[in-house]
Amino acid sequence: MSCLELRGFEIWKGMLDPARQEAVVAAVRDVVSAAPLFRPETPYGRPMSVRMTSAGRLGWYSDRRGYRYAPRHPGGAEWPAIPEVILTIWQEVTGLERQPDCCLINWYGEDARMGLHQDRDEADLSWPVVSISLGDDGLFRIGNPTRGGSTESLWLTSGDVVVMGGAARLTYHGIDRIRFRSSRLLPKGGRLNLTLRVVT
Ligand code: SIN
Ligand code: MN
Repeated sequence: MSCLELRGFEIWKGMLDPARQEAVVAAVRDVVSAAPLFRPETPYGRPMSVRMTSAGRLGWYSDRRGYRYAPRHPGGAEWPAIPEVILTIWQEVTGLERQPDCCLINWYGEDARMGLHQDRDEADLSWPVVSISLGDDGLFRIGNPTRGGSTESLWLTSGDVVVMGGAARLTYHGIDRIRFRSSRLLPKGGRLNLTLRVVT
């Protein structure tokens, strides 16, 4: 398996073969039936274009009070455990004994995007964030550890795994758009992105 490096991000192109992608999607389906996708509001009061939920001890949440991790789904239940097939991927690319506290699940429909941002709601930024892409292609943009400057983009396709760690842990990144219906993995189309995070 070959690893590409772009601005400090490790990109494992095609790490998950189709059978593994199916297994992860099946596990995500179980999580979503226990903790349904919802559409959070940004602190500025705008609904985000992605739909999301989480698995793990903590889930990522946003509303007018700000970005944060919460111990419960907005419906009131605890988040389901992170499925084993997903933890295995974390283990394979990081080699860490420490397991992630949160698996954030983002679903991008046809018009969804995610603006350039840093992942900085975690207490200890020395742990990497691992991102898993499934379904439709997404145009991933990578900037710099501070706002502004040049950016580079690449298409993330189903089965790609990205490790954002080390000096690049605070590098700005986002998804400009997806190529709707470019993959047949998800029957209704769209793109799933899972990010595994150590939170506390
Ligand atoms: C994220 O930065 O939280 C998601 C990135 C992606 O969808 O690939
Ligand atoms: Mn992010």
